[in-house]
Amino acid sequence: LDLSKIRNFSIIAHVDHGKSTLADQLMRFTNTVDARRLEDGQQILDDMDLERERGITIKMRSVRMNYMNRNENYQLNLIDTPGHVDFSYEVSRSLAAVEGALLVIDASQGVQAQTVANVDLAIENDLEIFTVLNKIDLPHAETDKVLKELEVVIGLDPKDAILISAKKGFGIDKVLEGVVDRIPHPTGSSREPLKALVFDSYYDVYKGVVVFVRLKGGRLRKGDKIQVMSSKSKYTVEEVGTFTPNMTKLDKGISSGEVGYVMCGAKQIGDIPVGDTITLSGEGGAAEPLPGYKKVKPMVFCGIFPIDGDDFKKLQTSVEKLKLNDASLDYQVDSSSALGMGFRCGFLGLLHMDIVIERLEREYDLSLLCTTPSVTYRVVQLDGSIEELSNPSLIPKDLREIQEPFVKVQVMLSPSKMGAVIDLFRSRRATLLNTSHLSGERAQLSFEMPLVEVITDLHDSLKSVSRGYASMDYQMSDYRPQALVKMNITVAETEVGPLSTVVPRSDAHRRGKELCGKLAELIPRHQFKISVQAKVGGKVVASDHINPFRKDVTSKCYGGDVTRKKKLLDKQKKGKKRMRQFGRVDVPNDVFRQIAKIK
Ligand code: GTP
Repeated sequence: LDLSKIRNFSIIAHVDHGKSTLADQLMRFTNTVDARRLEDGQQILDDMDLERERGITIKMRSVRMNYMNRNENYQLNLIDTPGHVDFSYEVSRSLAAVEGALLVIDASQGVQAQTVANVDLAIENDLEIFTVLNKIDLPHAETDKVLKELEVVIGLDPKDAILISAKKGFGIDKVLEGVVDRIPHPTGSSREPLKALVFDSYYDVYKGVVVFVRLKGGRLRKGDKIQVMSSKSKYTVEEVGTFTPNMTKLDKGISSGEVGYVMCGAKQIGDIPVGDTITLSGEGGAAEPLPGYKKVKPMVFCGIFPIDGDDFKKLQTSVEKLKLNDASLDYQVDSSSALGMGFRCGFLGLLHMDIVIERLEREYDLSLLCTTPSVTYRVVQLDGSIEELSNPSLIPKDLREIQEPFVKVQVMLSPSKMGAVIDLFRSRRATLLNTSHLSGERAQLSFEMPLVEVITDLHDSLKSVSRGYASMDYQMSDYRPQALVKMNITVAETEVGPLSTVVPRSDAHRRGKELCGKLAELIPRHQFKISVQAKVGGKVVASDHINPFRKDVTSKCYGGDVTRKKKLLDKQKKGKKRMRQFGRVDVPNDVFRQIAKIK
């Protein structure tokens, strides 16, 4: 196979700048898919329902296209990447599988935080980058301004940018020519020991685990005995092929430089982790894995409980099923006197959390109660030992110190919004590290702040204070000791464990007051007065109350209509199902989600 006729590339972009639309057009132009399949407006690479609805790419996919250029036949392998910060490890792995990247920028939006973050990842992976300015059909496209930003903010030559409209199919031929002319072909030899980089995988109910690989050396065929280098687990290859975009078996296998899929009877995707290297087991195996593999660690945690306690088993099988396809989902059984049996789950970020919860509710038909998201705290005990706890209710009363995870955040914004954005971040315990004016309409701020402040709705607040003219990206930095205290909440003298949080000591009163106020609003009146208190170390720091109210639903029906009376009482009972009992008090299930929104 002639390596000079192969191009492996990815498309990188900020969310919604048009990556999937461009990918569809490339497939249409190369006749990889029938144009008619695209006409209903649905994107082909995003095949999960939820992806379609949310319009985001959750798992990347790869596709092989045949492209004729100047009478030469080229094999183009496109690897789609997720655009969101929660999945940046996956972006990084897919970029390690290619030689070049198309950088898609929306001509009406310009350079955004994840444009910059993705370019950084591409540079780290030594990729050839060329820019595609998309959506030039939009009346408010500002092509010249964005080209200027490209030069000033990212340092790429605007003369090399290709102007297109992915939606209208304009400029697609130029993009394909650019791929052939500008992206280097792969190197390496099929005579070397097998080194296959795992850049994605998914679980198929009928076929089992399907692993996406990029060969950096050697060849891979049906019947080969292979080994996963990190875990040393061994498998026999059952099938090798590529996506065109449907699965297509390749009897001759794939060799160095190519991209494809492998099936080998693995039981769950965690058995062959993304970023790992596959080689031949025994004779002919590689000595060293490819660089860069790391285990991903969840950053955001919450408790997930079935609203109907009888659904625990169903929740368990559903979480297990999801895990087959999502190696980054972490879970363990959790139980709480108030919420019953459930799971404590760990996620890569908030978006990942929302997606998992939504899939559980929708695909597995469950009604769930989710506790306020938390991070992992490092608790230094009195004897000096350190414990990592991701559930605030488990933090002991007596301790020496609490350390919390910090992140570095970059914000791209229009300079006119600078004041409002800095105020917002300061109110979230952020320290401003750097301000730079990049070009007339673009500035960049960098901050350092606790991760927990980022996961409590910062993204939405940023959108609203900047009216959409700001975007952000963050990376983990380190753990720092902070003056933090655990705050417990009691409702009618009963402690509600799942509402415990960790707050800065200096801010405990304000946050406690806000929390109690919100609870007093959300909890319905009962027949007795209910007090809501926030306590730190057993001392009340804030309180509120709910006045009694006698709601006699049947008082409306005078006369003796028994069936009508019964109906009303049934209705009230149903309403109660949406409640959870804490001591003598019924608390609506969505309280936890509502609380997560306040700050
Ligand atoms: P993620 O997968 O979430 O990262 O998004 P994406 O970058 O793949 O964006 P997608 O292709 O889903 O496009 C986002 C929106 O922009 C869709 O509503 C598209 O129809 C629209 N869009 C894409 N390209 C163009 C274009 O050239 N012109 C116009 N007017 N709209 C476009």
